[in-house]
Amino acid sequence: MRICVTGGAGFIGSAFVHMLLDTAGGGAGAGAGDPGAELGEGLELVVLDALTYAGNMENLADYRDDGRMSFIHGSICDTAAVARAFEACDAVVNFAAESHVDRSLEDAGAFIATNVEGTRILLDAAVEHGLRFVQVSTDEVYGSLGDDGLFYEDSPLRPSSPYAASKAAADLLVGSYVATHGLDAVITRCGNNYGPRQFPEKLIPLFITNALEDKALPLYGDGLNVRDWIHVDDHCRAIATVLLRGTTGRVYNVSATQEVSNREVCRSLLELLDKPWDLVRFVSDRPGHDRRYALSAERLRSELSWQPRISFAEGLAATVDWYRSNRGWWERVRSGDYRCFYERLYGRRLSDAGDSGENP
Ligand code: NAD
Ligand code: DAU
Repeated sequence: MRICVTGGAGFIGSAFVHMLLDTAGGGAGAGAGDPGAELGEGLELVVLDALTYAGNMENLADYRDDGRMSFIHGSICDTAAVARAFEACDAVVNFAAESHVDRSLEDAGAFIATNVEGTRILLDAAVEHGLRFVQVSTDEVYGSLGDDGLFYEDSPLRPSSPYAASKAAADLLVGSYVATHGLDAVITRCGNNYGPRQFPEKLIPLFITNALEDKALPLYGDGLNVRDWIHVDDHCRAIATVLLRGTTGRVYNVSATQEVSNREVCRSLLELLDKPWDLVRFVSDRPGHDRRYALSAERLRSELSWQPRISFAEGLAATVDWYRSNRGWWERVRSGDYRCFYERLYGRRLSDAGDSGENP
């Protein structure tokens, strides 16, 4: 099987490449029931990535000389690059996106261009080339929950941020191509991922790397927002399962049922790193900040027999170890675009909030 992986140099896309190539045909990393093992010896991956600030060829360095992976530097908004990437492919898994909510509040333009128009270009090309299409979407399309309840696949779409709205728009486009063009497409909607090689703008890698440097950890609002955390490898196994066995036109929520508040995440990280709570700064809240996400993944579990394997405690400890042992990776990443975005954002937030280290 030949699969185009868009956004394969980013956090989740590169984890997907690692997972498939390490387990394909029952390779060294394979376990019973691994989708990579099921995909077999003939697996080939074509990574299409624009290498934005979030794309990093170091994430794919293990496969530089591996004939099973090829790389095309190009945008999903470029029809010629997409046509080249889709040549002889059987399927596409679309990870390519602008993925950070805070950035979408600063400037939504790139989010609409890549997440909406880019997806439209991929969909047209998939129809033309007869590809199976997996859209990697998010629980943020559903909006915010109160203290109770769960999001199901048929819950209304009520996105709060421009990022979430662009992902919801893309999901609706995918559904429309199934209905009107008969495209063989499926959608996954997952909660918050964590694990190795995540860009240190997202909560967990930002707080680990800041704490390792004894810098402040900026906790938004009262820090009691809740996210539905999942290790990136469990997410990738779910995507591969849906690619292999998902029913055309269907949406699959992906969750390991691990709801944790930001304060609890912060406390666990500081414990693992043996750093003091007084690194925490309560800063002004993210505008439109969703309070709680929680998903039912019953459909994925019962229809496709997927199950998560990694507990939050175990996965978080392994993630902390990864950032400790790969300082060079995040120091190189931080020395790029990251620094000026965060100085602008956090400089303003810290001064708005009076740089408070106290619990509100
Ligand atoms: P990321 O920001 O780490 O990586 C995005 C990748 O896409 C980068 O390699 C980047 O260079 C590439 N890219 C961006 N614009 C592109 C374009 N126009 N053409 C080609 N490549 C482009 O993101 P991530 O966290 O790995 O997320 C991957 C996907 O998973 C996204 O679609 C995101 O919405 C979705 N998702 C993420 C999470 C999460 O917690 N991170 C949860 C659920 C769903
Ligand atoms: O739920 C899935 C989504 O998870 C994905 O679709 C997105 O691509 C991904 O970025 C992530 O979105 P969040 O906005 O939930 O992730 P983030 O890491 O930015 O924030 C997690 C929580 O931590 C959120 O409640 C905001 C808070 N936060 C975040 C940062 C970066 C802080 O308190 N301080 C911070 O500095």
